[in-house]
Order: sequence, then structure tokens, then C-alpha cells
Amino acid sequence: VYLEPVAAALARKAGHPVKEKPYRSRAWFDTPELYGWLRQAAFRAEGFGEPAYEGRPLIGICNSWSELTHCNAHLRQLAEAVKRGVWQAGGFPLEFPVMSLGEYNMRPTTMLYRNLMSMDVEESITANPLDGVVLLGGCDKTTPALLMGAASADVPAIIVTGGPQLKGNWRGEELGSCTDCRRYHQELRAERITEEDWAELQSCIVRSPGHCMVMGTASTMAAICEALGMALPGNAAIPAVDSRRHQLSEAAGRQIVRLVEQGLRPSDVMTPVAFENAIRTLHAVGGSTNAIVHLAAIAGRVGIDLPLSRFDELSRTTPFILNLKPSGEFLMEGFLLRRLGANIAGAQSYNPALIRSLDEPLDAEGGLAVLHGSLAPDGAIIKPTAASPELLRHRGRALVFEDHDDMDRRIDDPDLDVRPDDVLVMRNAGPLGGPGMPEWGFLPLPKKLLRQGVRDMVRISDARMSGTAFGTVVVHATPESAAGGPLAAVRNGDVIELNVPERRLDLMVEPAEIARRLAAQARPPAPYRRGYGWLFTQHILQADKGCDFDFLRAEALHAE
Ligand code: FES
Ligand code: MG
Repeated sequence: VYLEPVAAALARKAGHPVKEKPYRSRAWFDTPELYGWLRQAAFRAEGFGEPAYEGRPLIGICNSWSELTHCNAHLRQLAEAVKRGVWQAGGFPLEFPVMSLGEYNMRPTTMLYRNLMSMDVEESITANPLDGVVLLGGCDKTTPALLMGAASADVPAIIVTGGPQLKGNWRGEELGSCTDCRRYHQELRAERITEEDWAELQSCIVRSPGHCMVMGTASTMAAICEALGMALPGNAAIPAVDSRRHQLSEAAGRQIVRLVEQGLRPSDVMTPVAFENAIRTLHAVGGSTNAIVHLAAIAGRVGIDLPLSRFDELSRTTPFILNLKPSGEFLMEGFLLRRLGANIAGAQSYNPALIRSLDEPLDAEGGLAVLHGSLAPDGAIIKPTAASPELLRHRGRALVFEDHDDMDRRIDDPDLDVRPDDVLVMRNAGPLGGPGMPEWGFLPLPKKLLRQGVRDMVRISDARMSGTAFGTVVVHATPESAAGGPLAAVRNGDVIELNVPERRLDLMVEPAEIARRLAAQARPPAPYRRGYGWLFTQHILQADKGCDFDFLRAEALHAE
């Protein structure tokens, strides 16, 4: 399935040789006016002599390093390795910072800022005399934001992601962040572990910089970078603190100089076929639901429409083969994109329990399914590989939470009228409603049911869920409730039917009654009256369009 997008793009280009073009950066320096002279004087001010820059392509290292983003805290070291590679290949590397988005610290949610970071990336690249760019990211939103910005800037680019953290270890058990944080938090709420256990766990689960080491959003996006042809083979798997990641960064530094010489831009590499490879990779690894939103947004930047139906078609014909948490048992340290790629065809799986053969997959179909029905006319997403098989066909009464605060207030109420076969519904958590579509979709189970031993229920919302989460959780119900979607019409006691094999999600209420209820409802008030939040609410697209801003999509799609 893997067509080596870079090789393919080169072959296409070979038929139409590009005329020798001077470097893009020359437009900044070869000017008779004062500024061309001043710009080179500025390099001298930083200590670079003429041989350091003269005649060399200027390579930007676009770094989302931040001490507020623990996943990206080691990226300055990787930047040094990238610089060595750029020098080796005859380029002139200069590192620059862009906004960083750290999942743990940013409120209300990093997703509110993904598009802002992508604008920072795009404008920083286009405004500066850069001939090529090496993108450094890692934490969930930083990778897609870098790819979106680089796609829009369309200057030759390659990405190096930061790599997964070392695996956690507690009392002899291997732990993955943050799948096992969630699992043990549930056990704490069920009173099966103590506060002392919980405190001890805190120092055992996140052992190094790097991104979450389960197949969460960060690992999924890192694998997708390879499948898209935007990262070197091996990028996804090498641990953050492994010396091989420094070697890979060095190689990326050399590779970007080649891409500049060949004139290969992101729009040459990220073709419709490359996106198909990315979607197949997503399904094969049982990747994060968030990747669907990010892929639609990245594709939109190069003028490619990726409807949800395409994700589902490819899911039905892609085996799920990777046994990693949250869908399976293992952690990122054991993984390489081994079985899917021609680029890496010689690679062996030394642990067939971890990476299954295509003949003996964990599941004949891919890791994600797209649902439609009266509760999600424009689609909703479920990760069947991380769900309870017996709940994939389920009918139950709805228990509705108006928003996240309402859920927080009532979920552990001993008098809550809830049964194990009910369907928990939360609304006002979508792109507009959240705002920013927070990762609230993994609704906690009511304490009184946890104590009875219940460990999963059907949950539905217009939120996203963390790529590290698990359970029978339907997310991205589109259109969202705050935009007048049918989730806003659900009442306590209504019957909801989920049928994953048939890809259905229905509210068993007459369509006329749903329309009547929606018409009678006022939309929630706008959450922002100024600033970036205001811009966000004016221009945010729904989840099926990748939650990008309408004005950032490629002109072709923008005109639609
Ligand atoms: Fe950064 Fe999970 S918190 S990748
Ligand atoms: Mg995450």
C-alpha cells in the first residue's frame, strides 16, 4: 500500500525537469537596496562568516520546543542534530521558535489553538528568506499544526517528530501514558486502589521527555508523517531519548538540502495517493480518532477533499495489525512501521504478537469506523478496536448532560437515575460549543456503576476523545449541538440505537419531532466577544471538514 510518496513525486518531476531556479532566499539578499546588505550583516552579527551562508540554501528549523510542553522539551537537542545534517549537506541552518501546544497545560484545550499555531508556522516560513524547512514537533496538536502551516507555505519541508517517551513501569507492570492513567483513575474512583497507590503511580508513568507512548494521537500522527512522505522511515518508532533519534534528525537535515535542490514541495509529496496511504496506516495501527480531523485539515491545505466516506471505505479493506494500547497490549518501544511499507520492506517483526501478519490480523477491518444516522447526519466516529464488542450493537435510554459542567456536577450523584445499559449523552462540547472541541468524549462512568463492576457504557458526544482513551465512545457527532445538530434534541429517556457493523447512530424519535424540538431551542450564547476566540468562532469549520478555519483552506476548497 505504501508507494514511497517522495520517490513517486520525484519520478513525476523527472518527466518535467524544473529549470535551474535560484534559491528562494536570494530574493531577500540580491537586492541593490540597503536591505540585502543589512540582512547579511545580520548573519555576521550572529557570528557567521561569509563561507557559512554564501551560496548555500538557507534551511529553517521550525521548532515547537517549549518547557510548557513536556513532550517537546528535548527538541532543542534534536535541532542541534538537524543542524549538523544541514551543514554536512551544504546548507545553512537557522533555528526559529513557533507557538507550542502542550496537552497537559493548555486550557481550555490545545485544539482551540491548532489553527493559530498553523498560521504562525505558515507566516514564519513565508515571511522569511527560507529555502527549506525542518519541522520539529511531537505533542498531539503540534504535528498537525506544523504540517498544515508547511502545506500552506509550500516551501520544501520535512518533519522530525520528537519520539515516544520511555515506557512506564509500576510494581512490575508496564504502563502507557495516558491510557493507564485513565484506567487507574477509574480504579481509584471505584475504590480498588488507594490514594497512596495513586501518588506512587505518578512518579512511575512518565519517565522521559517525548510524547505519549501508546498509539495515541501523537504516535498516530508520527506514523502518518511517514506514510504521507513528510518524514524519514523510522520516524514514528524511535524513542525520544534514543541516540538513533539524533541520527535520524541528522539525516533529516541532510535530506532537506536534497529536497531543496530537487524543488520538492509539500504539495508534490502530499498527493491524494499519499493521503490514502496515511488513512490505511491510521486504520492498520488502530490510531487515534483525532487523526481523522487532522488529516482532513492537512488535505484541505493542499486542495484535497477527504470526505469521511473515504475513511470508512478504506477502513473496511485495511486489516488492523498493531497490538498497542489503547486498543491492545503493548507500547511504542516495540513498534516500527514494518509490514505496510515498500520503503521498509526488509524490516522484520521480531514480535509477531505485537505486529501481526497481514494474514493473521487482530481484525480484518481497520481501527476506526464512521457512523451516520439521525443523531449524526454529517457523521460521527468510533474506535471499535478500543470498544467492548458486546456494545457495538446496542439500544438504550439516553441520559443527557447539557454540557461538561453539568456532567461533572451530576455523574457521581448517588441518586442519578442510571442503569448499565443506558447511553450517556453529552452536548455543547463541539468546535463551537466547547469551544475548541475539547477531549471530553471519554465520559467518566457513574461512580455507583463503577462500584457495581461496570467498566464500559455507550457514550456519545460532539467532543473529541484523547487518542489514549478506550471504551465504547462515539465522538465528533456532526453537526455539533451548538450549531443546531440533532444532539441538541435528545431528551432523557429517548431511545438511542448504535449499530457499528451497519455504521448507524440513530435517535429513535420521529424526524418531525426532532425538527420541532430543534426549532424550539435557542442557540447557546457566543463564548467570546473579542480576540482570537472571536476569530475562532467566526471561522471554525465542523469536524468533518477538519475544524480548520474556512479562510485557511486551499483556494480551490475555499471557493466551494
Ligand atoms: Fe503530549 Fe500526550 S501529552 S503527546
Ligand atoms: Mg492526547
